[in-house]
Amino acid sequence: MSINTRFPVAVHALALIALNRNGERPSTSELIAKSAGTNPVVIRRILSQLKQAGLLESGPGKPETKLKKAAEEISLGEIYRAVQDREDLFSVHPNPSQQCWIGHNIHSTLEGPLRRAQSAMEAELDAVSLQDVAEDLLYRAGVDRDAKKTDNPAAAGEIKSKISGGRKMKKVTAVYFSPTGGTERYVKAIAEKLAEEVEIIDLTKPETRSRSYRFGPDDLVIFGAPVYAGRLPIIEGGIFDRIEGENTPAVFTVSYGNREFDDALLEEMDICQKHGFRGIAASGWIAPHTFFDSVAADRPDEKDLQAVETFADKVKGILEREEQGSLTVPGNRPYKEAKRIVYAPEAEEACVKCGFCATVCPVGAIDGQHPEKSDPKKCISCLACVKKCPREARIARDPGLTAIRQKLEPVLASARKEPQVFFAE
Ligand SMILES: Cc1cc2nc3c(=O)[nH]c(=O)nc-3n(C[C@H](O)[C@H](O)[C@H](O)COP(=O)(O)O)c2cc1C
Ligand code: SF4
Ligand code: SF4
Repeated sequence: MSINTRFPVAVHALALIALNRNGERPSTSELIAKSAGTNPVVIRRILSQLKQAGLLESGPGKPETKLKKAAEEISLGEIYRAVQDREDLFSVHPNPSQQCWIGHNIHSTLEGPLRRAQSAMEAELDAVSLQDVAEDLLYRAGVDRDAKKTDNPAAAGEIKSKISGGRKMKKVTAVYFSPTGGTERYVKAIAEKLAEEVEIIDLTKPETRSRSYRFGPDDLVIFGAPVYAGRLPIIEGGIFDRIEGENTPAVFTVSYGNREFDDALLEEMDICQKHGFRGIAASGWIAPHTFFDSVAADRPDEKDLQAVETFADKVKGILEREEQGSLTVPGNRPYKEAKRIVYAPEAEEACVKCGFCATVCPVGAIDGQHPEKSDPKKCISCLACVKKCPREARIARDPGLTAIRQKLEPVLASARKEPQVFFAE
């Protein structure tokens, strides 16, 4: 595990550029190198990465470098991503033995915890801006005794709202059902743009769905679910039915595989509003289609993530309004008929009976001791077991699925759909 010094040196350089008001002594790489105690060549390399990331600019032929946007709009997370290779934090040994069952599985076992640790670290960095760092430096140098320190999260949050008028909320809760991770990505991306701290309630796990949750009028909850046959997935006891609000502002989202979301968003909104939530915004996002490898495989892409950012900004705007109004989303009541689609996957010869598929099944349709088959009475065809089997030994071998792949896949792959967003008025 290693983070090299590129990131702190990059923050050092940007802070110096942000704070340097001395027109006679511009922020050249030589000046920064002197302050950072390193070589100008190292600084030039870092400045070039920061320019490429759109954080810095310099006029043609001028040695001085300037911030391309305001210091309060640059987070430490952005700086980290600009200069640090993503694998830097956790590099996994590349050649474990594929003959050994531990060696064969160690990468997939570590993938989840390491990804979550990386995300948690980036979320912390996203919550602190370059302006926070600059103010902290002024405070520590005794130049501005009103500024607070960045190592106190509460104080850092205070600084942030003082500087930017409450740019991010303190906390939001992301509540989602997401067997193959498409919905999860969008809900987390929205939540992370809205708040410094994101609480996660992952309803994909049966044990999480069996608990009850309660929110108050000062909370904000982002809900997310995938679209199955134009509706929410059919889950015994419902997906969101144990989440209670008390006039709690909420954002409703669905993710779907580039066909349509039909009545799913309306259904989600109706259920949550019945349980005490008040919709302020809603959205439908395109994610890789569960059944078709060639449909939306690369979504969310850059354009989608830009749309997430714009969406989150508008949500922040609504939260600042005195009157938030009411929300309308597309869909019909009564909803289209709910269809239970069943392609219960089975294990093939390569299966080593590790039982991992049973742990990722959201509805307990696989017996971990006998993972050969899935229970067709429980299976919702989410294909989480197929996609997450470390041996690629699970398959949904259903003639119905083959037929639908032949018919629908080329049609859905041929035209890109764009995200749809809706706001309370
Ligand atoms: C049973 C089933 C039905 C689906 N029906 C639709 C649909 O009606 N429209 C659509 O665009 N995508 C449909 N999809 C694709 C999923 O909505 C899409 O892949 C979603 O992003 C999966 O969410 P997840 O990755 O969070 O599990 C369906 C997927 C499954 C498994
Ligand atoms: S199908 Fe895959 S995950 Fe399930 S028991 Fe077999 S090898 Fe393990
Ligand atoms: S058995 Fe069915 S419900 Fe369970 S993970 Fe596999 S496809 Fe999803």
